[in-house]
Order: sequence, then structure tokens, then C-alpha cells
Amino acid sequence: MIDQTHSHAKEVWSNQEGPFKDLEKLVRKYACTPYLRPIAGHTRTAFADAEQFIADFYSKRHAQSAPIPVILDSGCGTGESTLHLAHQFPGYPIIGIDKSAVRLDKASKSNGSHPQALPQNAFYVRAELIDFWRLTLEKVTVGKWTVPYHALYYPNPWPKQSEATRRFHLHPIFPTLMGLAQTTELRTNWETYAQEFAQATRMLLPNAGVTMQLIKEDKPITAFERKYKNACQQLWQVIIHQ
Ligand SMILES: C[S@@+](CC[C@H](N)C(=O)[O-])C[C@H]1O[C@@H](n2cnc3c(N)ncnc32)[C@H](O)[C@@H]1O
Repeated sequence: MIDQTHSHAKEVWSNQEGPFKDLEKLVRKYACTPYLRPIAGHTRTAFADAEQFIADFYSKRHAQSAPIPVILDSGCGTGESTLHLAHQFPGYPIIGIDKSAVRLDKASKSNGSHPQALPQNAFYVRAELIDFWRLTLEKVTVGKWTVPYHALYYPNPWPKQSEATRRFHLHPIFPTLMGLAQTTELRTNWETYAQEFAQATRMLLPNAGVTMQLIKEDKPITAFERKYKNACQQLWQVIIHQ
């Protein structure tokens, strides 16, 4: 009989041994290269929707003076972590962002069939993270928003060496990503990804507090975390305070 309590999520396989060989070169290069690719119109529209949600959230609670706090759940998938964060931080708007319409559709339905049944402080938006982060950084830079916490739970690891530059910390977006939040938490089931992320952050932000450790909590807070835990995989977190 098949044991259905344990899924068979595969460990990450990579043809790369240890951290990516050109990590330092790439991080240093992007630290001083502006990222100029035009921002896609659809992400501008999605960002405007999130902005409206945030404005409405605070106006109902008597407008708060700038900068207003906003929490991001980037690559939220089916949105379990967005719900978790909404309960953990009831006084803040939580924006769950993902590019997958299918996953976000499941997210809206996972708390009952009415999107209104979502906690009042949670909002899902379909967008490309890279552009969404750039628009968020504009808000942070002009002092309109602050991001107390940024969840980056189980991003696609792109484990093949030939795909390494698609990892967020080896991509031109990395300085933008690291410019956003007071606390950023990455979770991953690939130790090398966690090591690289921590190393790239220390290089870019020598004064930041960077901790890498195994996740000890028993209860999974995302769908992928549950899958990996059921397959008895080791899970890592990198927490960055600045
Ligand atoms: C491995 S899943 C993890 C989902 C969720 N965080 C979890 O732990 O269950 C990665 C998610 O990131 C989303 N994603 C990856 N790259 C993205 C991008 N550039 N922009 C928006 N979403 C992205 C995918 O659609 C997917 O839902």
C-alpha cells in the first residue's frame, strides 16, 4: 500500500559543487550597474492595485503618516504563507505576489470560495517580482513606504550551473531586492542556495546582520515547505537584518 502521508519531493540536484564560482564577480558587478530594463505595463497595473489596497487598508484605520509599513510575501504561490503572515502581523498590509495565475487562483479559494473571506490585511497580486520590487524600491526611496519584513520562501533555485544567473542573488536585481526591507527572510531546501544568498548579502551589505540556520519549526507555513518536510528534507533559512 502506498504511504500517502509522505510525498516524494526530490532533493535539489545540481551539477554545481559549492557556491557558484563567479558569485563575487557578479555581485560586485551588479552592485554598481543600474538595472535599466523597462518595467512591464502589466506589473505597473498590478502594483497600482496593491497600492490602492494599502491606501484603503490604512485609511480605514485612520491614515498613518509616511512612511507606511508594508509586508511582502514574494513568490507566495498558493498563498499559505500570506495567510500566516496576515495573522502574525495583523496591523500591517501583507502583499502576496506571484506570477502564476493558477496558484493565485488557488490562493483566493483556499480561504473559502469568497476572496472577501481573506483576512482584511491580506492581498494577492499577480506580477513579475523583479519589476514589482523595482516599483517598491521607488516608494521606499522617497520615504512613502517601509518594508519591515520581506518573505522570500522557496524561490525557484535554478540549480543547474548554466542557469545560475537566474538566481536572485546572481542577477542584476539583487541590489534592489536588498534595498527593500529591514528584515528579509529567505527559505530554501537547497543548502548551496542559502550559502550563496548569505555570502552575496555579506558582500553587498557588509554591515547587515546575516544568519543562516536550519529551520526548526515543526509546522510548515507554505505548500512547498509541507512537501519538503513530508519528504524529510533539510530546510534552511537566511535572515537578514539591516
Ligand atoms: C517553488 S514555488 C514556492 C511557492 C511558495 N512560496 C511556497 O513555498 O509554497 C516558487 C513560486 O515563485 C513564483 N515565481 C518564480 N519566479 C517569479 C517571478 N519572477 N515573478 C513572480 N513570481 C515568481 C512561482 O510562480 C512559484 O509560485
